[in-house]
Amino acid sequence: MLNKLAELHKLCFPDRPWSASDFADLKKSGCEIVASDNGFIVWRAVADEAEIISIGVAPDARRNGIAGALILIMEQELKKQSVHNVFLEVSEVNIPAKKLYEKYGFKPTGTRPKYYNGIDAIIMRKDIS
Ligand SMILES: CC(C)(COP(=O)(O)OP(=O)(O)OC[C@H]1O[C@@H](n2cnc3c(N)ncnc32)[C@H](O)[C@@H]1OP(=O)(O)O)[C@@H](O)C(=O)NCCC(=O)NCCS
Repeated sequence: MLNKLAELHKLCFPDRPWSASDFADLKKSGCEIVASDNGFIVWRAVADEAEIISIGVAPDARRNGIAGALILIMEQELKKQSVHNVFLEVSEVNIPAKKLYEKYGFKPTGTRPKYYNGIDAIIMRKDIS
């Protein structure tokens, strides 16, 4: 399963692929991973707050609602654990991801200047309580 996730991650993030061992380390560090054949989401919950660590959908499967469905699955799981807030960081130039998060109710709450190789990161947050 972790090898398949690594293949999928490479399709989604060709410039910075994660290996199967990176995914194993994420699991060991307490991250939750939900994946289908074409998409995955990784998050970490601490107390009543969770961070989306990564989300990706294979290029030939995009715009079919897969990422949105993965976000909703994550939220269902978090609600069961009484987690009330979800946040993430997204590059300000990643329009598909920013639009995805906006569609699912995330609002910008801050900026990390020059976070991604000189490009600002936008912090987005959603109350799921
Ligand atoms: C961002 C990403 C995960 C979206 O996955 P997806 O399965 O295509 O997203 P969905 O089909 O669920 O799209 C939901 C909404 O997101 C927005 N959206 C998704 N892709 C978009 C695009 N290329 N342009 C504009 N809006 C987009 C739309 O509002 C869309 O709703 P709509 O189709 O009804 O208009 C995917 O493009 C991807 O894997 N990108 C590379 C990895 C990445 O950047 N991950 C995010 C890191 S923070």
